[in-house]
Amino acid sequence: MANCIDFHCHILPGIDDGSKNPDMTREMLNVSRRQGIGTVVATPHFYADSMRISGFLERRKAAYEATLPLAEAAGIRIIPGAEVAFFPGISRAEGIDRLTIGDTGMMLIEMPFRAWSGRDLDEVERILQDMEVCIAHLERFYQFQTDKGIIPALLEMPVCVQINAECLLDRRTRKIPLKLFKNGQAHLLGSDCHNLESRPQNLAEGRAVIAAKCGAAVLEEIDALGEEILEGE
Ligand SMILES: [Fe+2]
Repeated sequence: MANCIDFHCHILPGIDDGSKNPDMTREMLNVSRRQGIGTVVATPHFYADSMRISGFLERRKAAYEATLPLAEAAGIRIIPGAEVAFFPGISRAEGIDRLTIGDTGMMLIEMPFRAWSGRDLDEVERILQDMEVCIAHLERFYQFQTDKGIIPALLEMPVCVQINAECLLDRRTRKIPLKLFKNGQAHLLGSDCHNLESRPQNLAEGRAVIAAKCGAAVLEEIDALGEEILEGE
């Protein structure tokens, strides 16, 4: 597809451990365009233990405004979002709803890299009372879980699940995410690209694997849902 969506990337310059400067952002945008990406959701890291929402949003605005002309030149629509690191109490945190993807009312949440408890899921449940939730790169959390029922329990909830393209590129790591896509339990794809080398844009390769292993219809569903979420942005 000529105009697919990268739902998760660190392409804004100088705001997190992603793009270091506008030159790198320009090159990342060009690579994205060559891979057929028409929209990127820019999701810099937000960590509540080291930053305030207002300060983060100011820095994101500056980085976004620096990126806009570069994105325009590359022919890419860019939508500001955040990858919000989960923390206990997140559902009640003042102003947390300002960290949604554009005005979609959906927040991309990075769950903790440890075994999850029922309390963590309760917290997600409470967030869902106020906004929509997209779980970032679910595949990265399986290895930490001691309760094998905890991810299935999360998947019972009305959350969107985003998968990173990278896991699809290796036979050893693609099994679970492909199954999730086939079962309709994974919904969106992102590159989570941070730079040009160690964590590059690789959405097109991931999409090719989905098309080959799950069929074109699954890819169409991913694209259609992405468009629906971003409608009006
Ligand atoms: Fe990320």
